Amino acid sequence: MRKPLIAGNWKMNMLRDSSLALVHGLLDSLGSNTTVDVAVCPPSVYLHDVGAAIRGSQIGLGAQNMHHQAEGAFTGEVSVQMLSDLGCRYVILGHSERRELFGETDASVNQKLMAALAGGLTPIVCVGETLEQRESGATEQVIAGQIRGSLADLTAHQSEKLVIAYEPVWAIGTGKTASPAQAEEVHAQIRGLLGELFGADQAQAVRIQYGGSVKPDNAAELLSQPNIDGALVGGASLKADSFAAIVAAAG
Ligand code: 13P
Repeated sequence: MRKPLIAGNWKMNMLRDSSLALVHGLLDSLGSNTTVDVAVCPPSVYLHDVGAAIRGSQIGLGAQNMHHQAEGAFTGEVSVQMLSDLGCRYVILGHSERRELFGETDASVNQKLMAALAGGLTPIVCVGETLEQRESGATEQVIAGQIRGSLADLTAHQSEKLVIAYEPVWAIGTGKTASPAQAEEVHAQIRGLLGELFGADQAQAVRIQYGGSVKPDNAAELLSQPNIDGALVGGASLKADSFAAIVAAAG
């Protein structure tokens, strides 16, 4: 069985004090739920402080992005070695905001994916269609293209650590979540494609998270779908009580 992974993507929110208050609140409210993997992905400047606060707890640390090179003249960038040096276990790659606003492509996500795996991190590779693409009936084709491109040259063995996040762009930060049936349809499609790429057994092991306006009141139904193995949570991860309620819904 796949263990659900609930990860909070804080995006460019929180300051140092509020970050620490949030994780302390989470440590208080999560209890010792060992049936769910939990992660927080703060802005990179707070990885150190948040990492120190959650060390030894059930909450894993994740980053929101990284550069694919190990080191060098890449002003403003952060390498996988730096992230693991800070205790990161996860890294989000190819979030739709990075694809849309910062020019990331399937090819650049693929480079980062290879570097993240080589550096020992668990990559969370994001895919998702826009509203226009969904309305024109292109969802399946868009998702397949993103999966094939982002995972190019990945071996079945490497896919063991992989996490995919399906985040329909039209559901991100809009309060408009995909229905459980809509999400499940795409998750099942992704798992089928992973089966073609890596074999059916490997595909069964890959966790596929849903993201896009996940809240305490819709989490349980989404997470009860057979191919939804967790959530990548934006807005609702910024409050300890709502994030903890989503974790509880996965347990
Ligand atoms: P919201 O939960 O705020 O819609 O954000 C989803 C997301 O983009 C997580 O990566």
